[in-house]
Amino acid sequence: MELKFYPTTIFRETPKVKFFDAGLDLSNGCDVVIHSEEAISPPDDFKDEQYYVHEHQIDHNLVIKGKRKFILINPSWDEPHHVIYLNRTMGALEIPIGTYHRSISGKEGSIVLNQPRRDKSFDPSKEFIPQKLDKVSLIKARRSAPVYWIWENDQIKRVKFNPLKRKFKTLV
Ligand SMILES: [Fe+2]
Repeated sequence: MELKFYPTTIFRETPKVKFFDAGLDLSNGCDVVIHSEEAISPPDDFKDEQYYVHEHQIDHNLVIKGKRKFILINPSWDEPHHVIYLNRTMGALEIPIGTYHRSISGKEGSIVLNQPRRDKSFDPSKEFIPQKLDKVSLIKARRSAPVYWIWENDQIKRVKFNPLKRKFKTLV
């Protein structure tokens, strides 16, 4: 499964100033999610992980400050489990409809700009209800070996851990 990342257009970047166009033509929303310190969206429910899954919204998450780890679970994909170590340079990560997702910040926190594409049936009272992985297909997908997406040598790399060789293998 190839995930999509939408790049930003950088106008000016110096050690102290970063100035870029983060606009996405296909988006019709603009949400900000601030983690002021270590945080998970959505939070665990006691010991159970919780996820968001949208029916009427495609997410495009861009890290504005810090770093954020995203976990994506989608049993209909050939590779149903992805872990993305997202930073600003990687651009806006697209999360398709029907994909269970959650995001985690480290101690420093992070700020994410989400520019979703919402359809006419979007209803905020229904779209953001945290869900548990309560189906066999979801639990299986969560337990499958993830594909990791990282930023290395100025590019997005997709890697898989080989437990036999105890090594990461670069896929792209
Ligand atoms: Fe979302």
